[in-house]
Amino acid sequence: MPVTEAQVIDALRPVQDPELHRSIVDLDMVGDVRIDGGNVAVNVTLTVAGCPLRAELTDRVSDAVGALDGVDHVDVSFGVMTDEQRAALRERLQGEGGAAAQAGHGHQHAANIPFAEAGARTRVLGISSGKGGVGKSSVTVNVAIALARLGYEVGVLDADVYGFSVPRMLGITQAPVVIDQMIVPPIAYDVKCISMGFFAGEDQPVIWRGPMLHKALEQFLTDVYWGEPDFLLVDMPPGTGDVALSVAQYMPRSEVFVVTTPQPAAQRVAQRSALMARKVQLSVAGVIENMSWFTGDDGKRYEIFGRGGGEELAQKLDVPLVGRIPLVTELREGGDEGRPIVATEPDSEAAQAFTAVAERITTDLAPKRIYRRELTIH
Ligand SMILES: Nc1ncnc2c1ncn2[C@@H]1O[C@H](COP(=O)(O)OP(=O)(O)OP(=O)(O)O)[C@@H](O)[C@H]1O
Ligand SMILES: [Mg+2]
Repeated sequence: MPVTEAQVIDALRPVQDPELHRSIVDLDMVGDVRIDGGNVAVNVTLTVAGCPLRAELTDRVSDAVGALDGVDHVDVSFGVMTDEQRAALRERLQGEGGAAAQAGHGHQHAANIPFAEAGARTRVLGISSGKGGVGKSSVTVNVAIALARLGYEVGVLDADVYGFSVPRMLGITQAPVVIDQMIVPPIAYDVKCISMGFFAGEDQPVIWRGPMLHKALEQFLTDVYWGEPDFLLVDMPPGTGDVALSVAQYMPRSEVFVVTTPQPAAQRVAQRSALMARKVQLSVAGVIENMSWFTGDDGKRYEIFGRGGGEELAQKLDVPLVGRIPLVTELREGGDEGRPIVATEPDSEAAQAFTAVAERITTDLAPKRIYRRELTIH
């Protein structure tokens, strides 16, 4: 007996669009289905013409329908959405930010930025430091992947507009797909990512003043299809407070983590970034010490950059020292090559340190929801 159209549609339900990571049935991408005995022809409507993942989609559709009893041959053809269909799709996807996204309309800080709302599910983690080169981007990327490996949905916003490095660290080379002005962030190691690096060449300088920076960040928050991740990590640039100010305005509930190296001089600079965060009313949630030690071939720990800086800064700011990350060559190499250590060598000393940071963020640093003592369950 030949299959029915309903069976074909059901079989296609688990098939995801390779970019949007959503069911092609839910996305209204399944057009005509024709059944002629054991031959099934499926027309798939692509969001944009020349979709680079067409071959991938062909395989997924063929496999899903071909697995049905009574199907001998699957023929997959493609069409392209009309402007109206794309607009409808964008509206639907953006509407999915849930209640918080809807409530975002007309918000005094920022129109339609779901992360701004009090009830939003997403925790925004700002990774900052007083000076450059201490490992903010490395920490951002590796903690993001560690959170994803723990099963959370994670996005990374590279707010370092001038010195973006997140795309390279995540090994992302393809540009984001744009659907009717909605930017679909590429995904690497299960982490969604958006960066100025996708829009400016690596060798082109980005010369912007505060207001344009502010605008760019707004666009990264409103025009990007983030969905409603559990965590959005923001790689903040060192130096000026412009970005801290924008982050504070757009996402007032952000928790700031300050990255520092162990020497006492470094933590004084790091303290400045914490004070800056507090000045714009962002809460400082913790300190992460990076390059804390190097384990030699002899198995001994060498504290190349001194010791105690992270602990001292944490005490001064009255926040926890969330973790200490060792100095390892593989971490730098992985960053240069787009192979983050947490993904490639999850059992290594450094990867475990990042994972421990991610675990603390989800446990003892998770927002407390029980305020009334009598409701605490022992
Ligand atoms: N724990 C570590 N072990 C070895 N190398 C590290 C470690 N942390 C960072 N690095 C390397 O140090 C350099 C600077 O790190 P990273 O780019 O993460 O710092 P940053 O604070 O984001 O810098 P910038 O201010 O330029 O954005 C990179 O080459 C990175 O691979
Ligand atoms: Mg950086």
